[in-house]
Amino acid sequence: MKGREEMKAQDTRVLDILEGDGISPFGMRFDPVHGGGAQRLHMIRESFIREMTRLAITHNAINLSQGFPDFDPPREAIEAAQEALASGGNQYTITWGTLPLREAIAAKMSKWYGLAFEPNEHITVTCGVTEAILATLMGTINKGDEVIIIEPYHEGYLPAVVFSGGIPHFVPLESPDYTLDLNRLRNAFNERTKAIIVNTPHNPTGHVFTREELEGIAELCQEFNVVAITDEIYEHITYDGLTHTPLAAIPGMAERTVTISGLGKTFAMTGWRLGYACALNPLSTILRTVHDFMTICAPAPLQAACAAVLQLPDSYYTQLQADYTQRREKMMSIIDRAGFRASPIQGSYYVMADFSNWDFDGDDYSFARWLPANLGVAVVPGSCFYGTKGMGKKMVRFAFAKKLATLEAAEARLCR
Ligand SMILES: Cc1ncc(COP(=O)(O)O)c(C=O)c1O
Repeated sequence: MKGREEMKAQDTRVLDILEGDGISPFGMRFDPVHGGGAQRLHMIRESFIREMTRLAITHNAINLSQGFPDFDPPREAIEAAQEALASGGNQYTITWGTLPLREAIAAKMSKWYGLAFEPNEHITVTCGVTEAILATLMGTINKGDEVIIIEPYHEGYLPAVVFSGGIPHFVPLESPDYTLDLNRLRNAFNERTKAIIVNTPHNPTGHVFTREELEGIAELCQEFNVVAITDEIYEHITYDGLTHTPLAAIPGMAERTVTISGLGKTFAMTGWRLGYACALNPLSTILRTVHDFMTICAPAPLQAACAAVLQLPDSYYTQLQADYTQRREKMMSIIDRAGFRASPIQGSYYVMADFSNWDFDGDDYSFARWLPANLGVAVVPGSCFYGTKGMGKKMVRFAFAKKLATLEAAEARLCR
């Protein structure tokens, strides 16, 4: 069985909802004034991660749920933003982004990965990775096209696929070390597959895709004429000497990959909403058209500041890795001491932890609601990263982009 048949058998209400039975999974019937909103919203609910952050605030809990740093961006970024604000950088930029920032991104892609992108043609600055992914899908997907999402997945992908009219097709990473089974992936590709979203280093598992995995994805994309949309937002957060390889660098992939990344995680500025998409044409022109009408441009003074932080020396990245390595050691030791089980992680700043050994009678949602109220630490329920029902039910996700002092405070609460 392939494609829709397989999806129907697997699960979920995805196809019924998208094909129009008019009832949301939350029991609401379509009615623009009194009902659950447009049909495209019927399989999407409010972000669990944002809910967990609110719960953390309510219980004054340490927030290890949402993936944002509790420390500031580099001083150079703040100073450059202040200067831009004070010196007239306050109006729309051209929709693709300022030229200095696009040039800085082109130089970075060439220096780090040997990838050649022409700033005037191939680089678009967006309001975060979130917008870049949505703009790419809106520009490439027609109603009913299938988009492969590797699960567990960042929770923004499903809404982006649904908003663009696509049908998500989930392919799981294999437990316990979250590798990609290329045969399983092959079974998901069919004539309706139009795109695949590939996130490496991976949130929420910490997996860094191997060259073999990337080559396997590349082979399938070329065989089935599929666009690869990558999310490389954790490209600079890897451990144990591992390095990040963009899918676009695999032979045959340059023309069919939209390489997406952002500055939010690398420079601890998630609230700045600065991301970018690099693609050859025609993909670049396509996503630029959507981006123009979706947001016009990213915030102008912050673009000026981002051009400046991209000039930081290599020592910034070395220090970033050293700092995150320390945080990872602390997080993994907390997980171990507190009685969770987790596989080692290779990149990003998340870890999926199994709470089966806890004397807790309930699923991941009840555990994630219980933990901040009773022990003062907020996490994210594991199953909200899966599209396939029943997966992640004994898991929660920890985010450890936090000062060591914050992690030590969480340790004191969890390891009693
Ligand atoms: C894998 C992944 N992609 C995208 C995002 C969101 O990126 P941005 O804030 O640049 O929109 C996140 C945020 O946590 C993420 O983990």
